[in-house]
Amino acid sequence: MDFKIAVLAGDGIGPEISVQGVEVMSAVCEKFGHKVNYEYAICGADAIDKVGDPFPEETYRVCKNADAVLFSAVGDPKFDNDPTAKVRPEQGLLAMRKKLGLFANIRPVQTFKCLVHKSPLRAELVEGADFLCIRELTGGMYFGEKYQDNDKAYDTNMYTRPEIERILKVGFEYAMKRRKHLTVVDKANVLASSRLWRQIAQEMAPQYPEVTTDYMFVDNAAMKMIQEPKFFDVMVTENTFGDILTDEGSVISGSMGLLPSASTGESTPVFEPIHGSWPQAKGLNIANPLAQILSVAMLFEYFDCKAEGALIRKAVDASLDANVRTPEIQVEGGEKFGTKEVGALLITSGKHDLVFRFIKQITMPEKILSFSGILLIF
Ligand code: IPM
Ligand code: MN
Repeated sequence: MDFKIAVLAGDGIGPEISVQGVEVMSAVCEKFGHKVNYEYAICGADAIDKVGDPFPEETYRVCKNADAVLFSAVGDPKFDNDPTAKVRPEQGLLAMRKKLGLFANIRPVQTFKCLVHKSPLRAELVEGADFLCIRELTGGMYFGEKYQDNDKAYDTNMYTRPEIERILKVGFEYAMKRRKHLTVVDKANVLASSRLWRQIAQEMAPQYPEVTTDYMFVDNAAMKMIQEPKFFDVMVTENTFGDILTDEGSVISGSMGLLPSASTGESTPVFEPIHGSWPQAKGLNIANPLAQILSVAMLFEYFDCKAEGALIRKAVDASLDANVRTPEIQVEGGEKFGTKEVGALLITSGKHDLVFRFIKQITMPEKILSFSGILLIF
């Protein structure tokens, strides 16, 4: 296959993790005989500084012409601390979602066996938890009519039938491919928009008789996610609820730095880690590149390149098992590996000798043994 990839590295740790994602993508393409071309484009605070627009027209063109976008992160504290700023990096992300029609955001919550102790939840609750949150991404309060003066402000949470139908369809279809359990999350006891969601979901459910569909208020879902994360298989919800619930979901696994996401819809799909730009860590080589690298796995899987995705997942598991981990997930007393070193381990077959030598220098002999698993993979 020929891949044309738009690379949007953005701000903070974005550029550092982006490099690792790109290199893993190239390595896997080389191994499987795919051609890949990258086109780089600016976004976020970086683009505001350069051209005054967080999602410039040229970046849109690059995305539009690509098969997929590999996105990293946007955001900069200089804008967070300035409420009068006319333009913000996050607007670039919202513009990208809207202009590319990315209405379905797929956020998997998966746990890694060797990291369950890092979760704030008890290991027995977390182990084996595996669900998808499907977040509507181009409607609701984020994009509804807004008003603000000194005494009054509002945001409108508007959804139309076609918007609800298309995202619920994505939810039902994912449920069919998985454990056939869909939870529609809403606030139908209070919100009119939620009542329409629930009504449409009830209309559609009979088309998917194999799927067990249940309905849950968002406050209850927030609770259930930490009480019994294994209850969920696929959940589908509106933009704002999905934003909040997926941050909650991301910590279940033990680190936000592990979770990738896919945004799909009418145009080029976007693959990105769910974490932000972590400006404090910029340039320190401490950010975990795995969420970005797993986003590449999702990218391959989107194009039905299942073996390619599986290879990346296997290599990620192997690197975690071998304790080649960035500081936030390292075991006590374990070597702290940097962004580059974790990435390097997952990179090209051509380089693996080099990686092996590098690891040898800094690890104990018994750890080297466990690396043979990874070396075999590539
Ligand atoms: C996310 C982020 C964004 C959102 C921000 C950066 C605008 O939190 O992707 O979840 O709220 O959607
Ligand atoms: Mn968010």
